[in-house]
Amino acid sequence: MTLSSQPIGVFDSGYGGLTILREIVKKLPQYDYVYLGDNARTPYGTRSFETVYHYTLECVRHLFDQGCRLVILACNTASAKALRNIQQLDLPTLAPGLDGPGRRVLGVIRPTTEVIGQYSKTGNVGILATRGTVTSESYMVEIEKFFPKLSVFQEACPMWVPLVENGEYDHPGADYFVKQHIDRLLAKSPEIDTILLACTHYPLLLDKIRQYAPAHATILSQGGIVADSLADYLIRHPEIEAQCSQYGQRTFLTTDSTDDFDRQATVFYGEPVQSAHLVL
Ligand code: DGL
Repeated sequence: MTLSSQPIGVFDSGYGGLTILREIVKKLPQYDYVYLGDNARTPYGTRSFETVYHYTLECVRHLFDQGCRLVILACNTASAKALRNIQQLDLPTLAPGLDGPGRRVLGVIRPTTEVIGQYSKTGNVGILATRGTVTSESYMVEIEKFFPKLSVFQEACPMWVPLVENGEYDHPGADYFVKQHIDRLLAKSPEIDTILLACTHYPLLLDKIRQYAPAHATILSQGGIVADSLADYLIRHPEIEAQCSQYGQRTFLTTDSTDDFDRQATVFYGEPVQSAHLVL
C-alpha cells in the first residue's frame, strides 16, 4: 500500500467477505482495496450482539488507520449487529470532520433488501443466514420498508459456516446439513420461489443448495448485488469517490495464520492471494 493510498476497506469475520470482494473487484477494478478477515475470532454468527459489535468496531478502526475512507461490512452478521451502532455512535468520533467528506461504513443488508422483491413471483422469499442475523430480524425490518407485501421466512443454518471454514463444503458430509435447512425453510412455506444466501460463506455451498432447493427457485448470492450497489453509491457520492485511490492495489489482512488464509482464500476469491498478519 503506498503512502497516498486510500483504499476501500472490506471487512468480514473470516473468508466469506472474499465472495463479495471478488464481485466488487470485477465491477470496479480501478480502486484500491484492503480486505480484513478476522479469522482468529470467527465465527461471529453465534456470538452476542455486544461481542460482534466490539470485534467489528475494532476492525473498522484498523481499516480507518490503514487510510480507508469507505469501509464495507461484507458480513451479514456484522451488518446486522454492529453497523447501526457504528454509524450512529462511533463514526462521529472515529471520523471527525463529518461536515467534510468524512468516512463512511456501509453494510450488505440494505443493498440486498432494496432489490430482493424483484426476484419473486409468488411474493414468498426465504432467507438463509447465521443465527445472529436471523435473531436480529434485520432482514424482516429492512424488507418491510421496500417490499411490505412480501412474505419473508428465515432459517438459521449454524452448521454451514463451520462446514465452509473447514473446507467441507463440497464433501458428502455437507449434504446432510444443507438438505436439513433447505427442507426446514420450505416447510415454513412451500410457495417460496426466491432463496437469499444471507451469509457471505454460503455461495460456496451453492451447488448443494441448488441440488436440494426446488428447481424453479431463484437462489440469490449477494456479491453482484453489493457490487452494483457500491458502484451506484460512488456515483451518488462523488465527494467520497474522489477520496478512494485508484492504483488497482489489493491488500489482504488476517488476524490468524497467513498460510491458512492464503490457502483457503483462493477458493473464496477465485485467485491466489498473499496476506499479511494483523495483530489487533
Ligand atoms: N460471513 C458472516 C455473514 O455473512 C458469517 C460468518 C460467521 O459466522 O462469522 O453472516
